[in-house]
Formats: sequence, structure tokens, C-alpha cells
Amino acid sequence: NLKTLEYIKYEVQENQVALVTLNRPKALNALCDGLINELNSTLEQLNKDPKVGAIVITGSEKAFAAGADIKEMKDKTFPYTYSVNMLASWDNLTTIKKPIIAAVNGYALGGGCELAMMCDIIVAGTSAKFGQPEILIGTIPGCGGTQRLTRAIGKSKAMELVLTGDQIDAHTAEKHGLVSKVVEPTETVNEAVKIAAKIASLSQPIVAMAKEAVNQAHNLPLKDGLQYEKRLFHSTFATQDRKEGMTAFAEKRKPQWKNE
Ligand code: HXC
Repeated sequence: NLKTLEYIKYEVQENQVALVTLNRPKALNALCDGLINELNSTLEQLNKDPKVGAIVITGSEKAFAAGADIKEMKDKTFPYTYSVNMLASWDNLTTIKKPIIAAVNGYALGGGCELAMMCDIIVAGTSAKFGQPEILIGTIPGCGGTQRLTRAIGKSKAMELVLTGDQIDAHTAEKHGLVSKVVEPTETVNEAVKIAAKIASLSQPIVAMAKEAVNQAHNLPLKDGLQYEKRLFHSTFATQDRKEGMTAFAEKRKPQWKNE
């Protein structure tokens, strides 16, 4: 059931994992408006699909994505970027309730690195290269590269990357907490799908609550984040799946999730 659009392709697998592939190989998956629009509408559709429990986004062997499309951007003016709030729709990815795993091989630069950081988990192949090279073309990151990267790897390392435009490899990214796993490039997608399949086998509403709670660690001060977590924890008691999960444990059997 592979669906091929102009800039991406995607399939929903038996294991309830949707695999989305950025497919603009000649431009190293440069993120043009058309690609972002296709990605957003596909993710919204997958978010609503009860047969999807988790989503994997990947690129090609050479590039996850080499950034925003520089050729598309180069003649834009300030009044235009300001009036259309350029790049605003990139954040749509962060409104998706289902977990999204980035499987990164090759370049994840600029907007590509930012896109990976908007995902919930990053799995990297040893060939992966992360960086925010915007400074080298006279601009700065515009989709979280100064914010999410700083929270992920700390100020000093983030400053170094943003101010020099230098890239870091997969192992360095793992060492600094940007990615959760490094595997052989041939295994990147398999590993991401394996994690996604495990998540997809669990209760969808509970998984969504867990994702929402972790994300609040970035949005709220600790006191409010803890309160938010507590309220969501209480909310799990409004689901049948919470009751089933605990009952199954007590009865020494596997839970049957109903997604209710
Ligand atoms: C448009 C791009 C592109 C990009 C690569 N291409 N990156 N086109 N926008 N970001 C195109 C090239 O022009 C070229 O097209 C083809 O893809 C292959 O790229 P090469 O440069 O020939 O490949 P290589 O020599 O292997 O170098 C790979 C590379 C280099 C190191 C990744 O392509 C590169 O530096 N790309 C730009 C990286 C970058 O600056 N990203 C940040 C963008 S700004 P032709 O037609 O010549 O074959 C950004 C702003 C974010 O992301 C703001 C928030 C979203």
C-alpha cells in the first residue's frame, strides 16, 4: 500500500507503523514548500488513522534533509517573510499526537536538523551528520535550531554549532543527547520501525498522554510540568486501557488494548 506523492512517499505497515520517506533525492531532500505541505497533510491523515500507532520519518541514504530550500528562499524579502509568517507551518508536526521517530542517515542540516528535532525520538545511522549551517549563508535557524538544539545538547555545544555552522557526526550527537541510538546505516530505518512497532502495540490514548507529558518538560517550569503530569496521570484512570493494563498484570496475562 505504498503511496507516492510528488515529494514524499508513505506506507502503513501491518505492525501499525506508518513509514514516511522524504523523496526529493536530487536536491538532498531540501525542504521546499511543496514538501512541507505534503508532509503536513500526510501526518494529519496518519494522526487520524486508527490503524497507525506510531510514525517513522526518514530520508535517503545520503540525506535525511539538507535544509530549507535555499534556491526557493533566496529572493524572498523581509515584508514577504513577515507577512506570510514564513516557516510557521513547519511546526504543525509538533501538533501530531502519535509518536514520530526520525530515522536519520546522511545530512540533517539546517531545517533538516530542526525537522529531526521536532520528532520525538531520533535514531541515527553512523553516516548521519547534524548541523545548523545557516550562518554560512547569512541567516540563522528559523525552526527551533537555536531553541530545541540548545535544550538537547546544552548552550556551549549549541552555540558552537550555530555560530560556526560546523557539523557533528552521529556518535558525537549521541554523546551529547541529541539522538537516542546510533546503528549501521542499513539498520537505521529497521531500528526506528522496531521502536515504533513496540510503541504501536501499546494503548494509543495512553501513549499520546505520555508523549504530551514529556513534551511539557520543554514548555513549562518544573512545578507546572509536574502538575501537568499528575493531571494526565489521573486522566489515565478515565480509560478502559488503564484498567485493563493493571488487571492483566494482576491476572498474569497480556493486556488486550482497546484504545479506549
Ligand atoms: C536547495 C539544495 C540544498 C538546499 C542541497 N541542494 N542542499 N538545494 N536547498 N538546502 C542541492 C544542490 O544545490 C544540488 O543541486 C544537489 O542538491 C546536490 O547537492 P550538492 O551540494 O551537489 O551535494 P554535495 O556536494 O554532496 O554537498 C552536500 C551538502 C551541500 C554539504 C549537504 O549540498 C550543502 O551544503 N547544502 C546546503 C546545506 C545548508 O546550508 N542547509 C541549511 C539551509 S538554510 P544541483 O541542482 O546543483 O544538482 C535552512 C534555514 C532553516 O535550512 C530555516 C528554518 C527552516
